[in-house]
Amino acid sequence: MKAETALSSRDVEYEAEERAFPEYTGGRPLRRIVYSASQIAARVEQMGGEITRAYGPDDPVLMVGLLKGSFVFLSDLVRCIRRPIRVDFLVASSYGTGTTSSGEVKLLYDPSTPMRGQHIIVVEDIIDSGTTLNRLIGSLEAREPASLEICALLHKHVAKDLEYEARWVGFDAPNEFLVGYGLDHAEDFRHLPFIASLPT
Ligand code: IMP
Ligand code: MG
Repeated sequence: MKAETALSSRDVEYEAEERAFPEYTGGRPLRRIVYSASQIAARVEQMGGEITRAYGPDDPVLMVGLLKGSFVFLSDLVRCIRRPIRVDFLVASSYGTGTTSSGEVKLLYDPSTPMRGQHIIVVEDIIDSGTTLNRLIGSLEAREPASLEICALLHKHVAKDLEYEARWVGFDAPNEFLVGYGLDHAEDFRHLPFIASLPT
């Protein structure tokens, strides 16, 4: 009985979010909700707990968010971490306005915080082809951090030559183009509180 109640309240939440699509998007269609706001919140809380427990009390931890996609995830995640941390950002760009990777990664902003001896956690919204991380992690390693880990909200598990695996992954995502909770399509939809897929 309990499971049934939980399921139906989740359905109610999905339906409410689906009804809200046109308000958020100005009428542009989305295909379906993939992760609801409360599902995301529960998983982010768990990940924050795991990160909290992963380091010693005196370890200097620096979270580096990859902009722009990680801005919502990072801001929720850091508030679930109950230990001292610092936060900085990296701006890299691997996508144009399409829905497939161009294979090119441009570095537009580099963190000013020194990384040497720091425990770095690179925070990424989604791992797709892996191009972004393959390109970035090598250059961050050269700065001699004490450790370097990747935390991704979503992982599509389609990358063929991923050089570095993420230590923390929120959800194993379907191989669809996803928007919301920071993820964009041509800069639209980043503000959706849930994650949805686009119509194909
Ligand atoms: P990768 O370099 O192919 O692994 O892609 C990483 C970046 O591409 C992510 O940080 C996103 O900004 C973008 N990206 C990949 N897949 C999606 C998607 O399904 N929706 C929105 N952005 C995506
Ligand atoms: Mg993007």
